[in-house]
Amino acid sequence: MNILVTGGAGYIGSHAVRKLRETGHSVVILDNLSYGHRESVPNDIPFYHVDLRETDRIETILREHQINAVMHFAALISVGESVEKPLLYYGNNTLGAVSLLEAMERAGVRRFVFSSTAAVYGEPEETPIFETTQRHPINPYGRSKWFVEQILQDIAVSDPQFGFVVFRYFNVAGAGEGGLIGEDHRPETHLIPLVLFAAMGKRDNITVFGTDYPTPDGTCIRDYVHVDDLVTAHVLGIEALRGGDARFYNLGIGRGYSVREILDAAKNVTGTEIPTVFGSRREGDPARLFANSDKVRKELGWEPQHTNIEEIIASAWRWHIAHPDGYNIL
Ligand code: UFG
Repeated sequence: MNILVTGGAGYIGSHAVRKLRETGHSVVILDNLSYGHRESVPNDIPFYHVDLRETDRIETILREHQINAVMHFAALISVGESVEKPLLYYGNNTLGAVSLLEAMERAGVRRFVFSSTAAVYGEPEETPIFETTQRHPINPYGRSKWFVEQILQDIAVSDPQFGFVVFRYFNVAGAGEGGLIGEDHRPETHLIPLVLFAAMGKRDNITVFGTDYPTPDGTCIRDYVHVDDLVTAHVLGIEALRGGDARFYNLGIGRGYSVREILDAAKNVTGTEIPTVFGSRREGDPARLFANSDKVRKELGWEPQHTNIEEIIASAWRWHIAHPDGYNIL
C-alpha cells in the first residue's frame, strides 16, 4: 500500500515509518516539524514540510503519490498545555484532522488510521477500561481527539466506502530495537524519560506527583505499551481495514504499573539510585488507567512482545545513553 504518515518525524510516527517499510509498504511523510525531528526520518523517504491545515497541498501530495491510506499521528500531546491554550489544541488536533480528511475526500482516499488517546475516557468509571467504557474527556487535549473520533463516525455514515481505525493509546514508552530512534519531546513531560534523565544526571531528581492515591502504594497506576508493539498494531489495522469499517481499539498491554514500580524498575535497569522527591498530586491525573485490550488481540491478532516493564525501560535507556541530547548529536 502507499501510505501517507502524518507526524512521521515524531516519536511514534518515526517508529511507524520504519515498521511500515519493513512490512513492504511504501511511505510518504508529512510533518510541520513543530516538534518532530527531521533527523529521525530516513533520507530516502519522500518528506513534505507541510502543516495539516494546508488542505490543497495535502490533496496534491495524496494524488501525486497515489496514496491508498493515511496514518494520522501528527498532534499536540500535552494535557497541561491544552488547558492553557485550548484553541491551539482544537486548531491543530481537531481542525487539522478535518483539513486532512477534506483533502482525502477530494483525492478519493478512504482509509484512515487515527491516533487517539486514553484521555478520551477522562476519569474512568471502571478499570480495566473497555472500548465501551464511557468517554468523558476532562481536558481540551482529550476532547480535541474525541471530537475527531465522532467526526470519523459521521463521515462513515455519509460515505459507506470510507473505513477507519481509531487506536486509543495508553502510555507509550521505549525505543526501537535498532537504537537509532527514540523519544525526544521538548519539553519532556513523560515519566519514563524523566526518570532516566534523573538517572543520567541530566536533571537533579524526579518528582513523584502524589503518594496518597487509592492504590496499593499510593502512586498512580498506568499501562505502559512499547512503541514497537504500538506501531505493529497500526500495521495490522491498516492491512485489515475495509470500506465500511469503523473500528475502535484500546492499545495497552492490560497491566498497570505504579510510579513507584517504575522507579524500582528503572533502578534495576540503570544500576543507579534515582534521586526522588515526593510531591503533591498533578491536577487531572486519574489514580489508575489500564486497558482491557482483548478486542485488538482478537480482531487484529495483536500480541505485544514487550510486556516486561524492565525490558521496556531498558530499550528507552539504550536510546538515551546513546543520544544524551536527543537528536542534537546525530
Ligand atoms: N508522573 C510523575 N512525575 C513526573 C511525570 C509523571 O509522578 O515528573 C506520574 C504522573 O502523575 C502519572 C504517571 O507518572 O501518574 C505517568 O505520567 P505521564 O505524564 O508519563 O503520562 P500520563 O499518564 O499523564 O499521560 C498519558 C499520555 C497522554 C494522555 C494521558 C491520558 O502521555 O498523552 O496518558 O490520561 F493524555
